[in-house]
Amino acid sequence: MKKIAVIGSLNMDYVITVPSMPQVGETVLSTGFSLVPGGKGANQAYAAGRLGGQVVMLGAVGQDSAGDALCQSLASAGVDVSRIKHCEGLPTGSAFIPVDAEGNNSILVAQGANGAVDISYIKENRDVLESCDIVLLQLEIPLETVVFVAKTAKELGKTVILDPAPARRDIPEELYRCVDYLKPNETELAILTDGRPAEYLRSSGVKNIVVTLGEKGGFLLTEDGQNEPFPAVEAVQVVDTTAAGDSFTGAMAVALARGDSLRQAVRFASTVAAIVVARKGAQTSIPSLDEITT
Ligand code: RIB
Repeated sequence: MKKIAVIGSLNMDYVITVPSMPQVGETVLSTGFSLVPGGKGANQAYAAGRLGGQVVMLGAVGQDSAGDALCQSLASAGVDVSRIKHCEGLPTGSAFIPVDAEGNNSILVAQGANGAVDISYIKENRDVLESCDIVLLQLEIPLETVVFVAKTAKELGKTVILDPAPARRDIPEELYRCVDYLKPNETELAILTDGRPAEYLRSSGVKNIVVTLGEKGGFLLTEDGQNEPFPAVEAVQVVDTTAAGDSFTGAMAVALARGDSLRQAVRFASTVAAIVVARKGAQTSIPSLDEITT
C-alpha cells in the first residue's frame, strides 16, 4: 500500500437542518443543529484512513477544543496527526452548513487557522512529502501553499491529486502542470473552465480528469486520450450531500494507493460516496472499508 499525505483544511462544521434554504433577507427557523468534524482536507484524510489507507495529514488548527476534537476524529480513523500545527491566537476553522429537506447544502467557511498553512510550515515538514507516494490537495488553504506543495511533490516524483474545491478561476498553469488527477464536480468544472471545454484543463497540463456529476455518475478524460462516462452508484436515499465529494476523492486516493486502475478506483469511490449521501454530516457519514461491498 502506497502512503498518502493530505495537505489541507480542518473545520468544525456547524450543521443546521432547515426546511428550505434561506433567501436573501429571509430568516428561517432550523429543525436541528449539530457540531460535526469536517473540512475538505480533513474529510479526505479521514475517508482515506477509514478505508484502509496509510495517511498523514498536514494542516493547522487553533489551540481550542474544536482543534482537539478534529485531531481526535482523524486519529480515530488511523490518520497520523502528529504534524498538524496548533496555532496560538487563531481559532480553528469553522464551516456553517444549512442542509435542506432534500439533503442539499450551502457552505460558508471562516478560515481561521487554515490560513496559517504557509510555505514555511511545509518546508519544516518536507520529510512528510519525501516519505509519501501520493499527495492529496484541495483549495481551502492558501493557493500559494498548494502550488508550492504540488511543485515540491512533482520534483520528488510523487503522484499529485487535486480536488479543486472551493473552485476558483485564478489557478495558475504551474499548478495544473503538476496534477496527475484533478477531481472537480460539475459546478467546479464550470468555474475552472470558464466556458471552455473540459479538454482545456488537459491542455493546461493536467494528466487525468475525473468529473463527478452527482446521481448522473461522471466522466473521465485520461492521459491516453480517452473520454468516457462512468455510472453512478445509486444511493438508498439522499439525506445530506456534505463530504460526498471529499469522500470520493479520499476513496479514489486509497484505491490508487493499493494499485487499482483509475476505472476501478472511480467505481470504489462512487460506492463510498453513495453511502455518504445517505447519512448525516461530514466525517460522521464516511464508512469503513468493511462496509463497502464492490
Ligand atoms: O466538503 C465539505 C466540507 O466543506 C465541510 O466539512 C466543510 O467544513 C467545508 O470545508
